[in-house]
Amino acid sequence: MKTFKALESTKTDQGNTLSIIEKSIDDLPEGELLIKVKFSSLNYKDALSASGAPGVTRNYPHTPGIDAVGIVEETKDQNFKEGDSVIVTGYDLGMNTSGGFGEYIRVPSSWAVNLPSGLSERDSMSLGTAGLTAGLSIQALDDYNSNQGFDNSNSIVTGSTGGVGSIAVMLLSKLGSSVTAVTGKETQKGLLESLGATEIISREELSEISRTPIGKTIWNFGVDVVSGNILTLLLASLKPGGAVACSGLVGGPSFESSIFPFILRGNALLGIDSVEIPLQKKLQVWENFASDWQLDLSDLVKEVTLEELEKEISTILEGGQVGRVLVNLN
Ligand SMILES: NC(=O)c1ccc[n+]([C@@H]2O[C@H](COP(=O)([O-])OP(=O)(O)OC[C@H]3O[C@@H](n4cnc5c(N)ncnc54)[C@H](OP(=O)(O)O)[C@@H]3O)[C@@H](O)[C@H]2O)c1
Repeated sequence: MKTFKALESTKTDQGNTLSIIEKSIDDLPEGELLIKVKFSSLNYKDALSASGAPGVTRNYPHTPGIDAVGIVEETKDQNFKEGDSVIVTGYDLGMNTSGGFGEYIRVPSSWAVNLPSGLSERDSMSLGTAGLTAGLSIQALDDYNSNQGFDNSNSIVTGSTGGVGSIAVMLLSKLGSSVTAVTGKETQKGLLESLGATEIISREELSEISRTPIGKTIWNFGVDVVSGNILTLLLASLKPGGAVACSGLVGGPSFESSIFPFILRGNALLGIDSVEIPLQKKLQVWENFASDWQLDLSDLVKEVTLEELEKEISTILEGGQVGRVLVNLN
């Protein structure tokens, strides 16, 4: 019986506990592709799954990890061949399907894309679902703005030292936007500047600059992962025709707004889902990262082993993570 190493979350009366165990390949679910995982990455949702947060993963014990890049070892789909490098993100991976925090996954081939040439395995998971979400956000904003690009625009990114936020800052800056980064981490101004932010403000400063229900027109574009009061403030400060792409809820699931930004300024709130969208949309973003959107992620990434992951999971749940955590399963 072939076994492999994986992080496992187990439900107990005192909450979920994490351990590194040996699992059997035979216990993996059905699927056309058996993949030897080379890298995964840590996202906020992984931490929710690992800690047993309600509404994320139904059945424990469970191996989280919504992201994986690896090599196809067995395939029942002729569109893939043994030895292919593939990326799998989202759908049910790491939710109720054994995920990327294990050395093997078995998944439907409809979840996998070939790693585009020009993108390394390491960089694909340095980006991971966070990067995919930042990319989808920027694409949605550009589409809303009739694909006129970001030159001479002002944009604002919240949760800017986190996974989605930090990559959104880099990407908007690379595409020519002047980026305001909102952060709760006073000590990370240097990092945000190095990512390309032109202005760095605290959450409190944002509430001084922006007025509800409708305030000064400041930004063309927003990328928000926080929701709550922060999203309320962003919507009240957009320029005419501007939009916010929202993907997260680290500040809570609800927010208040008024009709004014929508009917006086033609603003829009664009919802971003990186999980269940068609595979082709994901591939498009990966191809962009392999070409026009190439980023130097070296300053942003902390590389860990499976054994070092538990500490990082606690940090991300506390909102303390900076940049991206790459999980090396080589
Ligand atoms: N829709 C989708 O498909 C999708 C995909 C990926 C992620 N998400 C969601 O997006 C959010 C961010 O994910 P992530 O992986 O980037 O997480 P992350 O790395 O933990 O980043 C979140 C950042 O938000 C800020 N933050 C944390 N708690 C906050 C609070 N209470 N109020 C205001 N700001 C706070 C922190 O940055 P600062 O200290 O710099 O402010 C933190 O680093 C999560 O809610 C996640 O579930 C959704």
